[in-house]
Parts: sequence; C-alpha cells; structure tokens
Amino acid sequence: MTTPLLKLDGINKSFGPVDVLHDISLEVHAGEVLCLLGDNGAGKSTLIRILSGVHQPTRGTMMMNGQPVAFTSPRVASDHGISTVHQFGGTFPLMSIGRSFFVGAEPTKRFGPFEVFDRKTANEIAVREMRELGITRIDDGNRLVGGLSGGERQALAIARAVHFGASVLILDEPTAALGVKEAAHVLRIVLQARKKGIAVIFITHNVTHAMTVGDHFAVLIRGAKAADFRKGEKTREEITDLMAGGEAMAELEAEIEGYMATHDGHPPPVAAA
Ligand SMILES: Nc1ncnc2c1ncn2[C@@H]1O[C@H](COP(=O)(O)OP(=O)(O)O)[C@@H](O)[C@H]1O
Ligand SMILES: [Mg+2]
Repeated sequence: MTTPLLKLDGINKSFGPVDVLHDISLEVHAGEVLCLLGDNGAGKSTLIRILSGVHQPTRGTMMMNGQPVAFTSPRVASDHGISTVHQFGGTFPLMSIGRSFFVGAEPTKRFGPFEVFDRKTANEIAVREMRELGITRIDDGNRLVGGLSGGERQALAIARAVHFGASVLILDEPTAALGVKEAAHVLRIVLQARKKGIAVIFITHNVTHAMTVGDHFAVLIRGAKAADFRKGEKTREEITDLMAGGEAMAELEAEIEGYMATHDGHPPPVAAA
C-alpha cells in the first residue's frame, strides 16, 4: 500500500472533563473517497475541526505524506492543502459568485499582479470552474450567491477548493439539505474531485449516498471508531445497523416482525409507536 496522504494515529480530544474522541486512527489516500458515518453527536464535526486546524487534539499524532504535522490553526491546515466545505457550502448569499469564489483565498498571493480585486477575471474563473463541474446554468459571475440552489452552492465551494489546489477536500454533510437530483449532482462532483487525485472526506448520515461514492468507510459511535472497512466489505443493512448502534435497529425489526406474525402479515400502524 502507498503512504497515506493523511494519517491519524490515536487521536483523542477532550473539552475539559468531557472526552469527545477516543483513539481515532484513520488513513486517507489520494484519489479516494473516505466516508465518515455516524449519528448526531458521534464526534464527526469535532474530528473535522481537528483536521481543519480549528481544534488541536488532546493526544495523538497526524502525518501528511509520512511527515508529522501539527495543524495549530486553520491557516496551517489550509497551507497543507486541507480544504473544508461546511454544510450549505459556507458561502455568502449577498456576495457575487466571482467575489465569493476568491474570498479568503487571497488572490494577491497566488496571482502576483492582482493588487486590487480583478472582478472580470474573478468572474470568468469562477464561471469556468463551475462549468468544469457541470454547473452550466451560471454564465454570469456578477450574480449573487443567494440566487444559487443548494447544490450549486456546494458546487461553487467545491470548485473553489479544487481551483486553489486542495489535496484533501472535507465535505460536511454536503447532500443533507438537497433534493434527490441535486444530491446526485453533488455526488457526481465528488467523483470528479476524486478523479483529479484529491482525497475526499465525505461526512454523511445517508448510507445510499455514502455507498454511491465511497471507497473506504469509517463509522463513529460515541467518539470511537466502531468500524473501518472498504467498498464491498459490508452490505447496506450492516452499515445502517452499525450507524444506529446495532441493537436499536434489531429491536425494532423484531418488534415489527412480532406484530406482523400476529396480525395476518400487516405492519403495525404508525400511531402504535
Ligand atoms: N466545544 C465543546 N465543548 C464540549 N463538548 C463539545 C464541544 N464540541 C462538541 N462537544 C460534544 O462532543 C460530542 C460530539 O459532537 P460533534 O463532534 O458535533 O458530533 P457530530 O458532528 O457527529 O454530530 C457531542 O456530545 C458534543 O456535545
Ligand atoms: Mg456535526
């Protein structure tokens, strides 16, 4: 196996007396999608914040390309090519598409001659990069981000990350608030990022979405890694069961089966719950 792009080893995180993450070890490879699954409160966002330099681990180490790294601030993580897209794309509704594409990305550093904001060029780049990802409806970078659909906002945020050379792209529940067609589009974009050799960390509740794009899966339960497996190693039922903490689902199933056995095969009425 090749050296992982990013490797976590025994990461722990406590907030005062509260232990949130327990000994998380994970490997992230270039050109792969790692799906991070887990119920609310499992610790997914905390782990993501450690990877993006917002929080520091209480214990444990991180390596990039085999070299130890310490993400002491979001800036340091970003300098290492870590790009995080928060839910809803983290974009600004009242900003133009072109402006939002370059916000915080400091084009003056990357493009020496730009001492002032070059609106025309910024708009052209933003529209072109979105087009690359299959968002063809947008042809004017002056339009406001607020006029974009949820999926288009995600696409804009992902296009930015790709444009600025992210090597690890972290997507926190990018499909959670989207309809089926939009979610499918975002999943396609995830696969495009992967094809470019980016390591994608995809956080989701949705087992179908995870199974559609994931190469590798990790399930967090109450801050610990409950499972770590590759595509094809577990069925949808097994994954769903793991996420629900196992027992709860098994209990529910037994209850429904019991009801049906004594009610002529009819499922229990919803109100009975
Ligand atoms: N700053 C904090 N201080 C104390 N507890 C926290 C803090 N941030 C998160 N937690 C706790 O850590 C647990 C995991 O939260 P989080 O990482 O947001 O989970 P997820 O994203 O999987 O829903 C929760 O019980 C939450 O209350
Ligand atoms: Mg969260």
